[in-house]
Amino acid sequence: MRAHANGSAIPYLRLAWIAVAASVACYTARLMIMQRRQEASHTALRALEEKFHKAFKVSPVALAISRLANGCFLEVNDRWLEKFQSTREQLIGKTSIELGIWVDPNERMRFAEEIRKKGSVRDVPFNIRMAGKISSVLASGELIELDRAPVVITALLDVTELRNATQQLQQVQKMELVGQLAGGIAHDFNNLLTVIKGYAELSRNRDSHATMTGDVHEISKATDKAAALTKQLLAFSRRQVLQPRNITMNSMISGIEAMLRHMIPENIELVMVLAHDLGTVHADPSQMEYVLMNLVANASDAMPNGGTLRIATRNLDLTSAYPERDFEIPAGRYVILEVSDTGTGIAPEFLGRIFEPFFTTKEAGRGTGLGLSTVYGIVKQSGGYVWAHSEPDAGATFKICLPRIDQAADEVALQALATPSVLGGNETVLLVEDDSSVRELVTKILAQYAYRVVSAASGTEAIRLARQYESEIHLLLTDVIMPDGSGKDLAALLRDLRPRLKVLYISGYPHIPSAGVDTMDFREAFLAKPFAPADLAGRVRETLDQE
Ligand SMILES: Nc1ncnc2c1ncn2[C@@H]1O[C@H](COP(=O)(O)OP(=O)(O)OP(=O)(O)O)[C@@H](O)[C@H]1O
Ligand SMILES: [Mg+2]
Repeated sequence: MRAHANGSAIPYLRLAWIAVAASVACYTARLMIMQRRQEASHTALRALEEKFHKAFKVSPVALAISRLANGCFLEVNDRWLEKFQSTREQLIGKTSIELGIWVDPNERMRFAEEIRKKGSVRDVPFNIRMAGKISSVLASGELIELDRAPVVITALLDVTELRNATQQLQQVQKMELVGQLAGGIAHDFNNLLTVIKGYAELSRNRDSHATMTGDVHEISKATDKAAALTKQLLAFSRRQVLQPRNITMNSMISGIEAMLRHMIPENIELVMVLAHDLGTVHADPSQMEYVLMNLVANASDAMPNGGTLRIATRNLDLTSAYPERDFEIPAGRYVILEVSDTGTGIAPEFLGRIFEPFFTTKEAGRGTGLGLSTVYGIVKQSGGYVWAHSEPDAGATFKICLPRIDQAADEVALQALATPSVLGGNETVLLVEDDSSVRELVTKILAQYAYRVVSAASGTEAIRLARQYESEIHLLLTDVIMPDGSGKDLAALLRDLRPRLKVLYISGYPHIPSAGVDTMDFREAFLAKPFAPADLAGRVRETLDQE
């Protein structure tokens, strides 16, 4: 550094000043930069906060921020308010225990403890009270710090509906599976029973030896019992041939009232509350009688010490779907039949199983557990719903709901099924049956009653025979379902060839509803397997004699 001419220190001073000014400028600049940075980070923070706030607010998951220590709510989102059907004012500042959210308050302690330990938990299942109902939720929590105090962000996922839907699906699948199994067994059994019963009856008629006749009679009786069982299984698997008509439940009930009164012991009072304006339903009257008798028998069994049995009917108009325990009744117009009792009631763990075949709480020999499964099958096949409400010791109510139709009930009384006095005849019967033992048996029976029989193992063979056969064929006696098509289709084809042909279906296994054979017009003749020779002969004669 050079000295000034006069040797003074002024240049140094100036230099010092410049240095000071520069540092001040630098410092100020740095301050300004820092301030700018701070402002920028504030803005960023504010933007972040706003983003979080928005995400919190619009989240489809219910979110809440609460104090870890006591569960006091600091903030909740709209979804939370919606789920709990509360306002912010009702929740903020209150604890979850005060609000009675926890079904088991100890669970709140456990949840908080786990978050304290781990800092974050995911999808813990709980039952909590939400808008007056107990709901299943999956709760997740995250521990954060707010104003130096630990708080928890909780997210609740309501899985009640999902869980219910899964349970319903499982229940439906289970019933479907058991139904298929039961139906399959019943079908094969029916053919076997037809043969056993048929030959037992034939040999009984032929052999007059007293002991032999007695033995054969026992075989025949046992076959009848087995046949009754398979009939129930077929009903459960919805594979019965129904003969639906337009009926009112009230007249069906009145028709069997006397019998019902006989069925129940004297210490049970029977009360009927039948709606006078009850609508019509399209259902098989004898099947509905069977349903009612089963429910009455169960109610009666549940009241060993007496009580009240109530049978009620009413119309029900649903403007929106009505959720029941295991299913939903769609909106629509219905008729309800209710059978309630004041008996022992049903334990909750059994309530979901009572419609399963062979589920019984009755001692061996008293119940087979097929009553309600039959009811279930018949009601389902008729397009209706059946369910039960019950509590232990508080009785049970069974409800059946069938679609209501806008038509008057059929006036005609059911054709009396009286067996005609003359059973035999000399007409020609075309028999179509794929099961060879049943075919042989039926041929034998008809031959005994003097009919001429032309038999075929399939629909195709039957058509060929019908084309070739030169004389008149009076009756087509056919299985409802055959490997190569439905009996109904076969009848239609043969009627083209022979318009005067009468038709009698043998019902065994109408398992293709789309073939239109699960329900038949009530004027069409059919005979359910297994049958006794006299039943067959009677039905054949009756069909032939029909106008
Ligand atoms: N009204 C009722 N009150 C109490 N329990 C009932 C009632 N109805 C049915 N149950 C229960 O449901 C079970 C199944 O009934 P379901 O009618 O299918 O069979 P079951 O009566 O035991 O035998 P089955 O009817 O074949 O003779 C019964 O064993 C009983 O535990
Ligand atoms: Mg029963």
